[in-house]
Amino acid sequence: MSAARRAAAAPPAAGISGAPALAARDVPGQALAARIVAWQRRHGRHDLPWQRTRDPYRIWLSEVMLQQTQVATVLPYYARFVARFPELHALAAAPLDEVLALWSGLGYYRRARLLHRCAQAVRDAHGGRFPHRAAQLAELPGIGRTTAAAIAVFAFGERAAILDGNVERVLTRALGFGADLALAPARRALWAQAEALLPQRGIRAYTQGLMDLGASVCLARRPRCEACPIAGACVAAAQGRAEDFPAKSRRLRRGQRTSGLLWLAQRDALWLVQRPAVGVWAGLWSLPDAESAAAWLARAQAWPGRGAALPVVEHALTHFDWRLEPLRWTLPARLPAAARRAIEADLPAGRWVARDDALALALPAPVRRLLGG
Ligand code: ADE
Repeated sequence: MSAARRAAAAPPAAGISGAPALAARDVPGQALAARIVAWQRRHGRHDLPWQRTRDPYRIWLSEVMLQQTQVATVLPYYARFVARFPELHALAAAPLDEVLALWSGLGYYRRARLLHRCAQAVRDAHGGRFPHRAAQLAELPGIGRTTAAAIAVFAFGERAAILDGNVERVLTRALGFGADLALAPARRALWAQAEALLPQRGIRAYTQGLMDLGASVCLARRPRCEACPIAGACVAAAQGRAEDFPAKSRRLRRGQRTSGLLWLAQRDALWLVQRPAVGVWAGLWSLPDAESAAAWLARAQAWPGRGAALPVVEHALTHFDWRLEPLRWTLPARLPAAARRAIEADLPAGRWVARDDALALALPAPVRRLLGG
C-alpha cells in the first residue's frame, strides 16, 4: 500500500486536530519521531546560544532572526541584540532607528520593524510576558505559525508543529508527500501530517532534530541519506527521488534589476537618502539610485570634480537579483555654496553625512561594504 493510501486509511492520532496517524514505509509515526529524538540527542546541535535558555524573549528574538537566515549569520547579531537589549522592556523602549541600525546587514528589515512592534505589543497588551500557547503567540506582529510553534516548544514545552522550508523538505521526502505545496489544500494536509507526527515525549529534541536534519542531512541538493536516522523509513530515499520533493508548481521566478548607486563625496562627507517606508530596504539610509551608473555619469558631467566606476555588486533579494553599479563622484574640497546648492537640487532629497556617522546609521549591507564599513 502506498504511504498516501496508508495515511488516509489510518485511524486518527490521539488528540491532535483529527489528523490521520501517519506512517512512512511501515514505520509508525511515533517510531519515526523517536528516531529523530534519539538522533538529535546524539548528533544534533546543543550549543547554540538560544538553546541554553528557556527565556521566551531570547527564544523569540532568535527565531525571528532565523527566519530566512542561516544560523552562522545570526550568531553575532543575536549576541549584539542580547547585550544591548537584555530583556523585552529595553527593546520595546528603544527608538526604532536604533533597532534598525543594530539589524543592519541581517536583511529583510520588515522583521526588525515587526520585532520592535511585537516587543511593544507584549509590553502593552500582555503585561510584558509572552503568551505561552502557540495559537496566542501567532497573533503577535511578525510571528507566523512556525515561529509561534518554535517559541511555544522551546520556551514552554508545548506539543506544536513547525513547518518551515527545511522541515517541509524532511517531511515530504519521508512521507513521499507529492501534492503540490503551491496549493492551499496540500499545505493544510502537510500541516496535519506534521501535527500527527509529534511525539508524546521529547518535543524539544524532536523539533530541534527536524531543524538539524533539514540543515545538515536532508539537504535540498545531494541529501546525505547515509547519515539520516529515518532513511530506512523514507519513501523518497527508497525511490531514489529525494530531489523531487517537495513538489511546488509555482516556483518563484526571480527577476533581474539594475541600479546605479551614486557615492557623491565631498571632503569626508557623502550624500545619503532615506529609502521610502515600503519596498526594498524600506526606511534604511542609502546612496541615491538611478537606472545605471551611466545615468549618473551623464548627470555628473555638469558637476565639478571627477568620477570613478567601482566594481559591480551582485545582490540577491527574495524576488530578484539586483545588479548594483556604483559610481563614486568626488567634488572639489573647496566648492562655492551656490555650486553645491545647484548639485543638491539635482539629487533626490537627502543630506550630507560624515562617513563615520554614516556607518552608525541603518545601512543596507552592500552599501555598508561599499563604504568600507
Ligand atoms: N532555524 C529556525 N529556528 C532554529 C533554531 N531554533 N535553531 C536552529 N535553526 C533554526
